[in-house]
Formats: sequence, structure tokens, C-alpha cells
Amino acid sequence: MKKIILGSLIVASSLFAQVKGDIEVPYIPYQIKMGKGFDTVQANCLMCHSFGYILNQGPQPRKFWREKIHKMIHAFGAPITKKDAKIIEDYLYANYGNGKEK
Ligand code: HEC
Repeated sequence: MKKIILGSLIVASSLFAQVKGDIEVPYIPYQIKMGKGFDTVQANCLMCHSFGYILNQGPQPRKFWREKIHKMIHAFGAPITKKDAKIIEDYLYANYGNGKEK
């Protein structure tokens, strides 16, 4: 019985271990390009995830971006209108495109 109490005291004490100093959570600011249509991207794309998902793709052709927007709508249920989808496609291609259509 004593062993159990002692054992649980040791386990519990580690839970109350004090951390010295302030803990800082790194804040990672993404470099987002402000361009025509950015407000539409902000309103439609950032409700589920950060801009990092877009930046991590690197420069891509227009077709790639169009398909990604469709994937967000059809696979993940993003409520994006046809009109907004086109604005977003143009923004992504203009700012994160590689100059190729396909
Ligand atoms: C309804 C929620 C939702 C919205 C709105 C949304 N996404 Fe996503 N997106 C997701 C999910 C879920 C993933 C997959 C996450 C994972 O695999 O970890 C994802 C992943 C991605 C990826 C990574 C590549 C891939 O194919 O998985 C890109 C690029 C992306 N989204 C772009 C966009 C863009 C551009 C918009 C705006 C048009 C957008 N997303 C809006 C839910 C959303």
C-alpha cells in the first residue's frame, strides 16, 4: 500500500513541475501577397486553414489552382460561389502562378 501511495505521489509531483521563465509559442507570419482579389481569398480560404497550405504548393499553373479550388469545394465542402472561385483562381494564378496555363 505504501508503495502505491509513494508511487502515485512521484507521478503526481511531476504533473505540478514548475516551468521557469515564460514560454513563447513561435508565431509564424506568412508572407501573403496583397493583390486584386485577396479579400475574396481571405474570406473563402482562410476559414479552414492557414495560408501556409497555399504557399507550400510553390508556383503552379492555372489548372492546378482551379483544381485545388474545386477540391476544396467538392471534397471538403467549402462554400465558395462560382463567381468567387474565378476571382480566387485569378488571384492565385497572378500571385502564385508559374506562368503556364496547364
Ligand atoms: C471547408 C474547409 C476548407 C476551405 C474553405 C478551404 N480549404 Fe483548403 N483544405 C481543406 C482541407 C481539409 C485540406 C486538407 C488538409 C490536410 O490534408 O491536412 C485542405 C488543403 C488545402 C491545400 C493543400 C493541398 C491539398 O490538396 O490538400 C491547398 C493548396 C488548399 N487547401 C487551398 C485552399 C484554397 C485556395 C482555398 C480557397 C479557395 C481553400 N483551400 C479553402 C479545407 C478547406
